[in-house]
Parts: sequence; C-alpha cells; structure tokens
Amino acid sequence: MSDDFLPIQAIDHVELYCGNAKQAAHFYQTGFGFAPVAGSGLETGNRRAASYVLAQGDIRLVLTAALGPDDPIARHVQLHGDGVAVIALRVPDAAAAYRATTPRGATGAIPPTEVADDHGRLRFAAIRAYGDTLIKFVDRAGYRGPFAPGYEARGDSEPAGVGLAAIDHLVGNVELGAMNRWVAFFAQTMGFSQLVHFDDADITTEYSALMSKVMQDGTGRVKFPINEPAEGKRKSQIQEYLDYYHGPGVQHIACATDDIIHAVSQLRDNGIEFLRVPAAYYDELAARVGPLPQPVEALADLGILVDRDEEGYLLQIFTRPVGDRPTLFFEIIERRGSRGFGKGNFRALFEAIEREQARRGNL
Ligand code: FE2
Repeated sequence: MSDDFLPIQAIDHVELYCGNAKQAAHFYQTGFGFAPVAGSGLETGNRRAASYVLAQGDIRLVLTAALGPDDPIARHVQLHGDGVAVIALRVPDAAAAYRATTPRGATGAIPPTEVADDHGRLRFAAIRAYGDTLIKFVDRAGYRGPFAPGYEARGDSEPAGVGLAAIDHLVGNVELGAMNRWVAFFAQTMGFSQLVHFDDADITTEYSALMSKVMQDGTGRVKFPINEPAEGKRKSQIQEYLDYYHGPGVQHIACATDDIIHAVSQLRDNGIEFLRVPAAYYDELAARVGPLPQPVEALADLGILVDRDEEGYLLQIFTRPVGDRPTLFFEIIERRGSRGFGKGNFRALFEAIEREQARRGNL
C-alpha cells in the first residue's frame, strides 16, 4: 500500500515475562510442542534476566524472568502475573518505524538502538501499547545469529511440534470505554485499518458481555483485535481479566494450524486444557455450517468449534488460562477461507467461559 508508513513483514516474536522462565519454557516445550532455539542468562553474561527463545513454525516465543527483585521485569510479574510484555514486529527499518509512529502519537519506550556481535547487527526500537505492553520494531536483516546479541544457540534437534504454524492474531483487553482510543491508536499511529466490529448485540450472553474491534496492518498479516467489557447482568469476562491482570494486556495468542484435529489431539495428550462446549453444540453443527470435510465425531471428541461465513469456514478452540490467574490463554485456529473470528461460536463459547468464571467465584 503506497500510504503504508509502517510496513510490517511479520510478527517477529512475542515475549512473556514470567516468574520462572525455565519452568515456563518446559511447559511450552512439552505442552505446546515448541522447540528451544536460543537463550540468555548468567552463562551468557546476562546478569539481569534469563530468557528462553522457543520456536514452532513461524512462531517465536521468548520467556524471560528477572534475576533480582528490583527489576522492571520482576515488577511486571508481581503486578500482572506471567503475561505478554512485548509484541515484536519485524520491520525493514526499526528507526524509521519509531520515527513514523512517535510523531503520530505513540509514546516512545526504547529509542532506536543497534546491538552487534559476531553474527551482525540487530536494530530495534519500541513504543508503548495498551497497559504495560510494548510494541517493539525489530530489523534483523543484518543479523545472522540464533536470535539476538547476548543469546547463545540452544537445542540441536528439531522436535516435531504439534503443527502450530504462525500467529494468526493477538487480542488485547482494555478498560471499559478505552476500545475506541486504542482503535484510533492503531489506525492513526500505526496505519492499521478496521477489519470487523462486534458489538454487544453480537457478544451478549445472559450475563457477561464485551465489545470488540479488529485492527489489521496494510498487508492483513498482522491482526490485533481489541476488546473492552460491556455492561451485562454479571461481570464481563473482560473485566475479570482486567481485575486479575491489574490493567489492560494481551488476552490471547491465536496460533494458526493446517490440521487442527492433529494439533489439538497432540496438545490434549500433552496435558493442555481446553474449554468445552455442551454436546448439544455438535447436534446443531451440520444444520448451522453445512457439510465439513472433518468428521463431526472427531470435532466433538476434541471440543473443536466451527463457524462459516461467505468466504469459507474456520475451526477453532480455546485453552483454559495458561497460568494461575484467569488472564492469558491460547487459541488454536484452522482457516479454510474464512477471515472471521468465529462470531457464530460466541454464544456457546462465552457460556463456556461463564461456567469457568462461576467456578472461580468471579461471575
Ligand atoms: Fe481469537
């Protein structure tokens, strides 16, 4: 797009700040099938934090924990629990991305910076997004190392993984009344456009409600839905997140796969917990979405949800929160033409979420 002042090549990585990054890395390896790629810590001369870089398909997760109590990473974890601290976008020119976004209203977090080692130069900069979340611009065209200067290669075998291929979208939860401010931020500051809008008519169940707008970059590769709580009879699932995350932040990371039945079978065998909808959902499925190549019994057995629109269909499933707090979770999604987000599943899904909220005493 000629007016794309912020060209984005890909989501480079997502960094989670954790209480114990070593154990979190084990969870994402054995549970989600990620492979270790690189690491940083005392052994590499990093006196401040330990970081584990894991990869699967085009997805890269960085898990970082502070080595002392007075570090901003430690304070992030104390306030928010384990959660996404950095959304890193690969760009052709990190300094240009910083110079393009800051005059348009972004608050700078890391000015343009260059670090180098024997593998070359890595350039980056960062701006502030919702809550304490940073958006980092990374230019790694001049870098050939395993991840970044200060990191050593780790892991020599290529584990099979479960077939997670890429990050499909990253959802942010913001406070009541703040959604449109963040929609404007992504539009004006980053040049994103609005893909879809769900209001409380779409997303109201008996008790809890939310509103959502989906922002995407000029290529359509990077999609950031923004949710805010809506008034319902009881506490919105978004408000529950905000209460336990102590502010806005990333609600879920959606991972795309080409074979959701295979992926979810493996994830379940690995001990990953998913939300379940009632069996009646599958009785009505064929009437709602028409014939599917996947056997309905297999979808029902795994709890995979299906939605169809004019462009095609999608299959999706949501994990339970991956930590102790009811905050961050994952979505697994297989798209067969549909570019939607599963609007037809909202009611069944949100009723499932409300049952979980009730179990937590938060409905
Ligand atoms: Fe999603």
